[in-house]
Amino acid sequence: MRHFLNTIDWSRDELQALLDRARLWREGESGRPLAGRSVALLFLNPSLRTRASFEVGVHELGAHAVVLEPGKGAWGIEFETGVVMDGDAEEHIAEVAGVLSRYCDAIALRAFPLFKDWQEDRQDKVIRSLAQYASVPVINMETIVHPCQELALMRTVQDHIGSPVGKTFVLTWTWHPRPLNTAVANSALLIASKFGMNIRMLIPDEAYRLDEQFMDAADRQCEASGGSLEVTTAIESAYSGADFVYAKSWGALPFYGRPDEEAKLREPYRHFIVDEEKMALTDNARFSHCLPLRRNIKATDGVMDADYCVALDEAENRLHTQKALMAELIG
Ligand code: CP
Repeated sequence: MRHFLNTIDWSRDELQALLDRARLWREGESGRPLAGRSVALLFLNPSLRTRASFEVGVHELGAHAVVLEPGKGAWGIEFETGVVMDGDAEEHIAEVAGVLSRYCDAIALRAFPLFKDWQEDRQDKVIRSLAQYASVPVINMETIVHPCQELALMRTVQDHIGSPVGKTFVLTWTWHPRPLNTAVANSALLIASKFGMNIRMLIPDEAYRLDEQFMDAADRQCEASGGSLEVTTAIESAYSGADFVYAKSWGALPFYGRPDEEAKLREPYRHFIVDEEKMALTDNARFSHCLPLRRNIKATDGVMDADYCVALDEAENRLHTQKALMAELIG
């Protein structure tokens, strides 16, 4: 039995096989390889794309989706081991995972970090405890990484710029009114490094470096794939000659759990917005974002409405890549 908790545990060839299969699904491959099966989708946080693409994907594979929102229509869950459960949670992940494993053929979970203590959140304990107690495959629908988004991103990169090897991938931080999860930024680093891209990570301040477990993993993957990772605060040179620009906002980890202090650090950097002038510095690059995106905050209307914006293609590819993933894990 195999889980999909992050892409570090999967080889590039295994991931490429999923991407190839996803293209076949997109091109109209038919069949219901999961007929009669069921997949539990647990959402501890809101979603539009993840929920819709998983529900539709499960349906198109012939299976049934059981969508649960613990704490809201389903009992709240305790994820810590050995605690006295005298708080709000009504049941433990041990029983939740055990019960759902008896009904369903896979369990997918979205559980954002709690934004209080990064030393705690960086251990990704919630999805790991689900994987520990489940006897069916577990799929990460976003915790401190977003591996399903990685598949959609790499499918989109390959669709639009061909082989990613040696291509320049700009991961640019952008301003946002509040500090956001680092998951998609971590994931963008992981997938671009796995596939041999030359990554320029553009940040406004050293405080926006990502957690060392992901920076180190990206370095290791670059070494294996022939890619490279450069961290820079220089906007013009970061965009210059780029092949693919990927935007995301995230909070500064040294200020994790202290949003008011982090806001002061972030405030001078609204000009990191992706705009037409910056995109003009690239080598006819494509632009994408995982969505949701606040227009004229993270990227201008001009960028979002340009032909080079492939964010909707990436969102569509969530459906096809997740179908490939579920067929592989369950089928
Ligand atoms: N990109 C993404 O995961 O979107 P949702 O948060 O809407 O699911």
